[in-house]
Amino acid sequence: MGRIQGKVCLITGGTAGIGYASAELFGREGGVVVITDIRPREGEAAAQKLQDQGYDARFIEQDVTSESRWREVVAEVVRHYGRLDVLVNNAGVGAGTDLENSDLAHWRFVHAVNLEAVFMGTQNAIRQMKQNGGGSIVNISSIEGIIGDPRSAAYNASKGGVRLFTKSAALYCAEKKYGIRVNSVHPGFTKTPMAESVGDVFAPADLARIQHEIVIGYMAEPIDQAYGILYLASDESRYVTGTELIIDGGYTAH
Ligand SMILES: NC(=O)c1ccc[n+]([C@@H]2O[C@H](COP(=O)([O-])OP(=O)(O)OC[C@H]3O[C@@H](n4cnc5c(N)ncnc54)[C@H](O)[C@@H]3O)[C@@H](O)[C@H]2O)c1
Repeated sequence: MGRIQGKVCLITGGTAGIGYASAELFGREGGVVVITDIRPREGEAAAQKLQDQGYDARFIEQDVTSESRWREVVAEVVRHYGRLDVLVNNAGVGAGTDLENSDLAHWRFVHAVNLEAVFMGTQNAIRQMKQNGGGSIVNISSIEGIIGDPRSAAYNASKGGVRLFTKSAALYCAEKKYGIRVNSVHPGFTKTPMAESVGDVFAPADLARIQHEIVIGYMAEPIDQAYGILYLASDESRYVTGTELIIDGGYTAH
């Protein structure tokens, strides 16, 4: 028996990085995995790779910023598998900003993907999960939802929003006795396409500083985040709700 045997799991932004690593781990642990992403070609390829490993997996195209698409995606999962047990709100965008030179359009774009989509996903998942007696929602925030970064105003604000929204949703579900747990994960620097694309963060001088401040001494691999996400998805964390799991190699410990 796997650690999430038979659970129907929806992972947004599941074609790359932390989302894909989670999909692979969920598959290995017996989960039924539905990955969604805005990139259909990469999504189909990722689903094929999961199926080739013998996992029960499929891909659905989704832009997480579309409210109507959220309703359709959850309905499609339920039509196919009869239920939804786990939602991982993972899709995110991470472009840095110069506060004085950024604009409202950029602010709104970052919040639409990183925060509004988490609200819509959580809301749609709750509506479904309460009908199947419970579930687990895992919202991927960041250490930047806890500590400030001079180059990431919009990202900081959106990820801080995810952190507190998660606690509100957890309390709401507990009050309603839905059996739905809601938690956030706060990755530190993790080797994914997103991290690699943020060039200024990884300029040589910054890289040296970051690596020095990661007390474990090196950046995380996506699987390091996936193990934490798996724990919160599984019944092993049945007593855990409204919490924030920081997986950052000790970066925020000092
Ligand atoms: N990599 C890090 O260092 C790090 C650190 C802290 C938090 N995070 C968070 O972890 C999550 C995953 O990040 P990652 O590093 O794996 O990123 P990534 O860029 O490698 O993957 C993100 C995925 O989300 C998808 N996506 C983007 N916009 C979307 C949209 N509108 N609709 C659907 N899918 C969309 C992308 O296509 C991509 O496949 C994000 O929420 C990110 O903010 C990452």
